Amino acid sequence: MTKAILITGANKGIGYETARRLGELGYRIWLGARDAERGETAAQKLRGQGYDVRTIDIAVDDEARVKAAADRVAAEDGKLDVLIANAGISGAYVDPVEQDLDDVRQVYEVNVFGTIRLIQAFVPLLKSAGSANIVNVSSELGSLGSLSDPQGEFYGVNLLGYNSSKTALNGVTVSFAKALAPFGIRVNSADPGYTATDFTAHRGYRTVEQAAEIIVQLATSDDPAQTGKFINDRRTLPW
Ligand SMILES: NC(=O)c1ccc[n+]([C@@H]2O[C@H](COP(=O)([O-])OP(=O)(O)OC[C@H]3O[C@@H](n4cnc5c(N)ncnc54)[C@H](OP(=O)(O)O)[C@@H]3O)[C@@H](O)[C@H]2O)c1
Repeated sequence: MTKAILITGANKGIGYETARRLGELGYRIWLGARDAERGETAAQKLRGQGYDVRTIDIAVDDEARVKAAADRVAAEDGKLDVLIANAGISGAYVDPVEQDLDDVRQVYEVNVFGTIRLIQAFVPLLKSAGSANIVNVSSELGSLGSLSDPQGEFYGVNLLGYNSSKTALNGVTVSFAKALAPFGIRVNSADPGYTATDFTAHRGYRTVEQAAEIIVQLATSDDPAQTGKFINDRRTLPW
């Protein structure tokens, strides 16, 4: 049976390119989008290139929609081979002292709680696959090692909500990696690097093709030792 993969926030940016790459590799794609029209427009583009793509409604900050998505995958496929938690938001780029707590809360709701919600909803389907991968799309901005190195590239990028949400997300990766190893489910954090998407107002110096590379590598790995890691396409990152 063809391997199925679900990607959240796949209507554009890094998620879309990841969907395209995995479609090209022959996976059946569940293209997650929180807006039906944006999702279907993206899916149509990929179907036009010959890939097996179905749009699926998922807003990761909405419990009912995440559950409904898992129910639909259960009904149509009965299993899921790869789950990619890509959807993410940055919150305001302001002085940490000034950041509105509600803004920080919403960033956590999507980047951290949204990922936990997603993984918990899809674990039964990933178990049914026998061997599966979860890829959490993190960021070097979540690396305390990088952020506390004065020589580091991102030392000066002090986004309270976003950075700490990705640090927390890495903790989520480690926890689920341990809990799910007995079921043949590998869980990793991928850092796509500073990439030109709407997220960065296209200021990033990496392309979406480069950004998707590590996500695709982790999504398609069947190495049992490849779990609980935080990596990019060049190195293992410090937590
Ligand atoms: N770009 C970078 O430099 C960079 C670097 C490191 C890590 N990352 C991470 O990479 C991931 C993708 O980023 P990107 O650059 O591709 O950003 P993007 O172009 O802004 O795409 C973000 C995607 O997430 C979706 N999304 C936002 N909130 C959501 C929610 N509540 N539920 C479901 N989907 C939601 C968006 O949907 P809409 O289109 O409906 O808004 C969009 O599809 C994020 O997790 C980001 O933190 C990016």
